Amino acid sequence: MSSYPVDEIRRDYRALHDLCYLNTGTVGIMSEPVLKKHLERIASYERSGHFGEQLARSGYEYARNAFAGLINSSPDEVTLTRNASDGVNYVLASLNIPANAGFITTDQEHPAVLLPLSLASRSASGSIGMLSISGSDDEILSALRSLLEDRATHLAIISHVSCETGRRLPIKEICALCRDHGVLTLVDGAQSVGQFTVDVNDIGCDFMTGNGHKWLCGPKGTGFLYINRERVSELNPPYVGDGSIDPRFDRAKFMPGAIVNDWEFRSDAQRFEFGTRNWHLYGGVADAVDQLAGWGWNEIQQHVSRISSVLKAELGDRAAVTVHTPDDWAASCGLVTFSVAGQDGAKLSERLWNEHNIVQRRVQVPSAVRISCAHYTNEADIQKCLTALDTILAS
Ligand SMILES: Cc1ncc(COP(=O)(O)O)c(C=O)c1O
Repeated sequence: MSSYPVDEIRRDYRALHDLCYLNTGTVGIMSEPVLKKHLERIASYERSGHFGEQLARSGYEYARNAFAGLINSSPDEVTLTRNASDGVNYVLASLNIPANAGFITTDQEHPAVLLPLSLASRSASGSIGMLSISGSDDEILSALRSLLEDRATHLAIISHVSCETGRRLPIKEICALCRDHGVLTLVDGAQSVGQFTVDVNDIGCDFMTGNGHKWLCGPKGTGFLYINRERVSELNPPYVGDGSIDPRFDRAKFMPGAIVNDWEFRSDAQRFEFGTRNWHLYGGVADAVDQLAGWGWNEIQQHVSRISSVLKAELGDRAAVTVHTPDDWAASCGLVTFSVAGQDGAKLSERLWNEHNIVQRRVQVPSAVRISCAHYTNEADIQKCLTALDTILAS
């Protein structure tokens, strides 16, 4: 038996008392101690306005440090965003893409990647190379090599973990290959940060985007963009405001009524941050990270690896079921995607919720259901899900 204190951990999450919550890959749920402090921070800033700003801003910087610590970057390489989608948009809108150079992405990306790429394709003249990620690591790397050799590419945007199948990609090797071909890399870490150890220095990516509201169980509407120090000057934000230039705005320079433009963007990742912000939301990310760290990142990973393996093995024993997530932990994570022969994934997902109160998510391609095993998921959750599935299969 594992000594991981999952039952003790679950006591901190009120929703788990009566809900089978298996959708952390969409949004995590907040623990009661983190929620209490989060609400206090919101109340303090909203009630006391400028007087309370100091506290709100210290929570904001605390979150920057927390994100930086999680991905092993320096805080000045982290810009705080509202979500992972922001990060993709910031990079695409700010990079100077040379004529005829295009992009590479995969066939399992979230709309957070596909839509900004689609928008960029309206003005960029280069093409978008699609990498299939359904094969082995070697097959993926060899397909990537061909794409890199066949076309002029400026940027590859690749998920660390596919949100559809839960496939964890050989991201370090992918980034190395791109680097060897002079191609920049933006890693979508929305499904990896908080699930397992992520180290941007080891991965060697230029940019990474992520959020605080999934596996970190922090406040919704919090995220980050990591910008490798060497790349900051290559990003020219399309927006500017007080806070994003260096030195700070000086009214004397704009007098008498002149608009001057001889200023520079900040030399760090904060060149994207300006104006009054939801500073008071971010401290909750850092509190949530502290709580997870207190339970132990390694212990959490081992627990999630064990629980997701149990689920995959049980699903694999059912003849009608196909599991789309690899067995190997190094190529997977807490997301488990499965389909049932002859059943539409969206309908199955609806029935699991409507008839059995199991919170999960449908997958469109393949037509499937995705289960998220998180640090608070226990075997009873898995058994409840399997029993529900068996009931549906027998009906
Ligand atoms: C891989 C991936 N990228 C991006 C997103 C979008 O995240 P956000 O809502 O923070 O923009 C998601 C959300 O499900 C995701 O799974």
